[in-house]
Amino acid sequence: MEEQSLYGRVGGQAFFDDLVERFYEGVVCDELLRPMYPDDLEESRRHLALFFAQYWGGPRSYEEVRGHPRLRMRHAAFRITKRARDAWLLHMTAAVNAVSDRLSPEDYEEMVAYFEMAAHQLRNV
Ligand code: HEM
Repeated sequence: MEEQSLYGRVGGQAFFDDLVERFYEGVVCDELLRPMYPDDLEESRRHLALFFAQYWGGPRSYEEVRGHPRLRMRHAAFRITKRARDAWLLHMTAAVNAVSDRLSPEDYEEMVAYFEMAAHQLRNV
């Protein structure tokens, strides 16, 4: 199963760890987003990387650690304005571009489209 998923095609968890590492490099320099996140980003990195791995067809470790994603509920505590959403998307797109040598053109398109869709859904202000 996993070989047929994006998770399998990109070589597993390491790809998502690298993606998320890049993403948080953007977040730490972002004056709007940085204060929303905890000082120590280690758990934030781990949870996001496990979530993406699970979403793209990898093992269900995220759910084992965190339970059902319920992303809207988990983001309710944060003021996700249009600006915050756009900032998040900017950093995530930059992260995808940084690891895009490991993505086929089709997987690249699918990933960018998913992040745009999901970020639009999570705007809550
Ligand atoms: C739209 C702008 C977004 C903002 C400002 C935002 C912000 C945040 C913040 C502040 C946290 C808490 C970090 C922590 O406690 O470690 C978080 C967690 C998380 N976010 Fe977002 N987020 C956004 C969009 C997204 C999107 C589009 C996704 C998925 C595609 C996503 C997935 C997650 C996940 C999986 C977690 C960890 C949940 C957990 O298990 O605690 N976020 N986000």
